[in-house]
Amino acid sequence: MNILLGVSGGIAAYKAADLVRRLRERDCAVRVVMTAAATAFVSPLTFQALSGHPVRTALLDPAAEAGMDHIELARWADRVLLAPATADLIARLAAGLADDLPTTLVLATAAPLYLAPAMNQQMWRHPATQENLERLRGRGVQVLGPGVGSQACGDHGPGRMLEPAELVAALLAADPGLDSGPLTGVRTLVTAGPTREPLDPVRYLGNRSSGRMGYAVATALAELGARVTLVSGPTALPSPAGVARVDVETAGEMHAAVLARVDAVDLFVAAAAVADYRPAAPAPQKIKKADAELVVRLVRNPDILAEVAARPSPPFTVGFAAETDRLEDHALAKLRTKRLRMIAANWVGATEGGFERSDNALTVLWPDGRRELPMMPKTQLARELALLIAERYVASS
Ligand code: C5P
Repeated sequence: MNILLGVSGGIAAYKAADLVRRLRERDCAVRVVMTAAATAFVSPLTFQALSGHPVRTALLDPAAEAGMDHIELARWADRVLLAPATADLIARLAAGLADDLPTTLVLATAAPLYLAPAMNQQMWRHPATQENLERLRGRGVQVLGPGVGSQACGDHGPGRMLEPAELVAALLAADPGLDSGPLTGVRTLVTAGPTREPLDPVRYLGNRSSGRMGYAVATALAELGARVTLVSGPTALPSPAGVARVDVETAGEMHAAVLARVDAVDLFVAAAAVADYRPAAPAPQKIKKADAELVVRLVRNPDILAEVAARPSPPFTVGFAAETDRLEDHALAKLRTKRLRMIAANWVGATEGGFERSDNALTVLWPDGRRELPMMPKTQLARELALLIAERYVASS
């Protein structure tokens, strides 16, 4: 597991040195970047000696860019941890700025982001800081700590950075995939949730998908060590821990989000309920009720899954088939025509599991095998499915 550690300028920077050692003890490769202010507290040489790699402190450094440039560094990372994260760094992240190396890397990476805040208790309590953290949490950023206690400035209260051992424990609790699993480092893209196809500015065609199964699969794959990006239609679900999330609304947006990322992934799991059709010409104004009948012309949406599987060197591609009849026939036909490596088929409608339920059962098919996963809660089912995907993926690579 590759961890990019960003150190910003607070007295807790000295604790980050011990953090590097502890992460390396867990077999993580660690590369360190520092803000200019951080170098006033701890020397880059300390982090170089502990991480075994040169430390970068500037964005516009020709010598460093000639080596592993900042985009390569952003792609190298499986996880990004900012420790300590000062109030200023948190504000710049919330605003989406890229005015130094750590903030630029955060924008340039698809890896999940963790923050270990460290600041004076008054700064921590300030509404500006709390609002910034709320914005970041809404983007799926995980905030580890802070601890409560006496502070370097003499105050007492919340704002201390967690101790290195506590940080590693919090990181592992939030992201069990950090300990090596069968999919460690496997770059994975998952689609989940429904899509919404606008009819006019206030109405859309949607479907009953809650996104629960796709989110549970994304979580379970991350728990096995995969580096997961989740492209999600509108759902009411919180972002899974350790997963980078990209929100979309329409099938067209999901298609664009997937196609922009698919060449950089090893595994693609399409669990989204993508609308097959969209209104040909959404009305620019709210449609008024006038005639007794209203005819809406629909046009086909791109089949994201089929398109991904048909690429010249596709990732290991797994689809879902939600059917109301002849489950296995339809699923097998999709496996073959879409040229998938695996398909997970489930009954929807009637009294079986499926949409809007917390339980489900799956028949998983691949070109020369099959497995039945009986009715169970979706989170458990997702773990079984993720293990099966890992088994087939490892066998094929
Ligand atoms: O052919 P059907 O739509 O039933 O196939 C379902 C599978 O295809 C699911 O894995 C779904 O995520 C994916 N799909 C897609 N893009 C579409 C339609 C379906 O990726 N436009």
